[in-house]
Amino acid sequence: MGVSINENIIDEIKSRCNIVDIIGRAMTLKKSGSNYKGVCPFHNEKTPSFVVSESKQIYTCFGCGATGDVIEFVQRYYTLDFMGAIEKLACEHGITIESNFKKSQKKDEFYNINREAASFFYQAFTEKANPGYTYMKNRGLDSLTLKRFGIGYADGEWNSLYQHFMDKGVDPKVLLELGLISESNGRYFDKFRNRVIFPIINTNGKVIGFGGRALGDGTPKYLNSPETPVFLKKNNLYGLNLTRQDISKDNCAILVEGYMDVISLYKVGIRNVSASLGTALTENQASLLKRYTNNIVLSYDADDAGMNAALRGMDILYKEGCRVKVLHISDGKDPDDFIKKNGKQAFLDLVGQALPYADYKLSVARGKNDLNSTEARVEFLQAAVAILRTLSPIEADIYIKKVAEEMKITESAIRLEINGNNIQSTSTESHRWSQSKTLKKRESDDISMLEKNLIKLILTDSSYYDKLKPYEFAFRSDSGDTIYSGLKEIYVEDEQIDIKKLADGLDGEKNKVLSDILENVQFAGKEEQVFLDCIRTMEQRKLKLKQEELNIALSMSSEDENQENIEKIMKEIQKIQQQIRGQGGI
Ligand code: CTP
Ligand code: MN
Repeated sequence: MGVSINENIIDEIKSRCNIVDIIGRAMTLKKSGSNYKGVCPFHNEKTPSFVVSESKQIYTCFGCGATGDVIEFVQRYYTLDFMGAIEKLACEHGITIESNFKKSQKKDEFYNINREAASFFYQAFTEKANPGYTYMKNRGLDSLTLKRFGIGYADGEWNSLYQHFMDKGVDPKVLLELGLISESNGRYFDKFRNRVIFPIINTNGKVIGFGGRALGDGTPKYLNSPETPVFLKKNNLYGLNLTRQDISKDNCAILVEGYMDVISLYKVGIRNVSASLGTALTENQASLLKRYTNNIVLSYDADDAGMNAALRGMDILYKEGCRVKVLHISDGKDPDDFIKKNGKQAFLDLVGQALPYADYKLSVARGKNDLNSTEARVEFLQAAVAILRTLSPIEADIYIKKVAEEMKITESAIRLEINGNNIQSTSTESHRWSQSKTLKKRESDDISMLEKNLIKLILTDSSYYDKLKPYEFAFRSDSGDTIYSGLKEIYVEDEQIDIKKLADGLDGEKNKVLSDILENVQFAGKEEQVFLDCIRTMEQRKLKLKQEELNIALSMSSEDENQENIEKIMKEIQKIQQQIRGQGGI
């Protein structure tokens, strides 16, 4: 491809490709303490001495000494050169590297300017008395903590920062793009004025943006950098650059809403903490956290907004496979406030009392209803059933018992309710393929990368048709399904596939999808590798679907009716979960 590569694309690849996933796809990894272990693929051994560290994003073999990061692993495992490994990872993760050189040069410039701005604010904060420092001192923070976070001060003048950069010959356009200055009637002025500055630093140590707090009651309370090519709020968490080692060591992260909460907790020695910058938690943030721990305690503000944010955040973390608990701030409005009033130990006690996912959801549902009237009881039970339905079978079983006991009704009634609606929601689907009848579940109309790869494989080499036949269930999208059916018809009739004939049988929209596949899905001679990767993914998916089926079976069997049967199903579920883990799935 003749692509130039620099540090940024490497950073991007490293931050998007979790080493555990990448290696887990190539070989079997088992969790061992905070690391993952497996049999070294680079030398012959029987007992595993190949260790992958998720928090450090490196692998090491204690047997043969092989060691490196995700790129080095891909190079060595798939015998690729450096560029080959970069291309493979970028391609699999939808990272474009064409013309990336220019873009990353620009990014470097942005990072440098942000760093320069941060040190300008830092100097103003530390070198002489200023209202920002006084404000932070009055909020009980010491200089060491402030220094750790690189806290700064933007003075009250209109153009101190602007002038500083002009003296250095920086183009004002770049400052505008970074949101450090604004323009009005052809004049430039500093965006952050008379504010305490919180630099936002990513886990690669780069300054990506700023938050500026008014000193006192000024509005807006916080002014933040806009989204820029180097600052995507959805991909970052505040404080993680300082706290990820502690999070990993404690195997737990306390997630808070605000800058001040992070700093306050850090100051008293609770250092496994990070903040979602006042916006709703995103999937990317959840998977970033998951690199360091699976255990998350949400400690959002005590108000309704905080509670709603916690509910949403919880679902996202739960879906990412985290163990989530929610902490309720029992005094004051947020963790910072609470700590100031009650101290470190009291906060740790709250952490200890934090409610697990299901308990918290049930308590919120309960909170809304006073459970004396029949109406309220029914309403709560309906809400509870909706919650129970989202749980894994083992969890669901435990909570069904709890709710039944609390509400003085039978477990079977709850199971029936859970299951009754399940049947309604799935039985409307029409199944086309007998072999995959129970497995197939129509998802969305968006064709997945997996489906595209499968179609392209068959179109590239029709011998893949037979090999992929058992995996027909993977075509879940409308377009994937239609294109595959067409392809199947033609192949069965002609024993080869004429692309034109295929296209002729499709409507305009599906034709677009087909040409997208033909043009944009490229294997560069690595069909077999892609094929094997697809198979692995689908085997995982099959297991997960099987697990879902068993879930339904479990919720259908009532407790007094068939204890033996329930145990059998639970055993099967456990077996499947083991298989899923064994295959490197999460
Ligand atoms: N926030 C923001 N803009 C605002 C208000 C809040 O960007 N106008 C974001 C900030 O990241 C802030 C977080 O939301 O840290 C939580 O808001 P809040 O609880 O109001 O702020 P605190 O961090 O608690 O700040 P303080 O204690 O100084 O009031
Ligand atoms: Mn606060």
